[in-house]
Amino acid sequence: MKFSAAALSATLAALVGSTVAQLEIISPGGPNLWWVAGSDNVVSWTCRTSPFTNFTVLIANSDPKVLTAPQAFIAQQNNFDCSKLITKDQINQAPGTGYTIQLANIFNETDIFAESEPFEIKAIGSSYPASSATPTIGGSATASGSGSTATGTDAAAASSASATSGSNGASNLGTPSGLAALVIAALGLTFA
Ligand SMILES: *[C@@H]1O[C@H](CO)[C@@H](O)[C@H](O)[C@H]1NC(C)=O
Ligand SMILES: *[C@@H]1O[C@H](CO)[C@@H](O)[C@H](O)[C@H]1NC(C)=O
Repeated sequence: MKFSAAALSATLAALVGSTVAQLEIISPGGPNLWWVAGSDNVVSWTCRTSPFTNFTVLIANSDPKVLTAPQAFIAQQNNFDCSKLITKDQINQAPGTGYTIQLANIFNETDIFAESEPFEIKAIGSSYPASSATPTIGGSATASGSGSTATGTDAAAASSASATSGSNGASNLGTPSGLAALVIAALGLTFA
């Protein structure tokens, strides 16, 4: 069977419900993945699909009264770490909404590679999000929607891609296995 990188990209893009972005912030972001003020928090990103080897990590807020400009808190973060524990000494922003995390070019912080969904920093003492709230890439709803579009060629390519991505090393948050599971789920749906 012919390996088609283009078909693979199209399939994976469909699976993750995204057309262009290959680097995305997994957490924090959105209503279910908040941070807690005065506490350690985690940033995680799609390191397996990232075209970037490193980036500056910034926190921003849509309200200039909260943050007049995005503030860098890691000057150079290696992509391969996949996630990073952020201590309360690195960031001690006040509780509030409208925060985003940005991953940017280390030479130009306004060249933003990826930005999270807005998220809340909850008051100190709040509980952390449930670990089940951290998504694997995509989700069953996305997979079931797009599985029917995979052709035999796509499926073979996706299968080999999941094997390849599995050999790249361990992940802190299980994202790659999530992606592999998603691909397998899509294959299952295709051939069931
Ligand atoms: C970091 O990324 C820049 C491009 O944004 C690249 O030129 C540089 O070589 C990278 N450094 C490392 C250590 O990977
Ligand atoms: C920095 O990045 C921004 C956004 O991509 C771009 O408009 C600007 O020209 C860049 N600045 C430099 C000095 O390259």
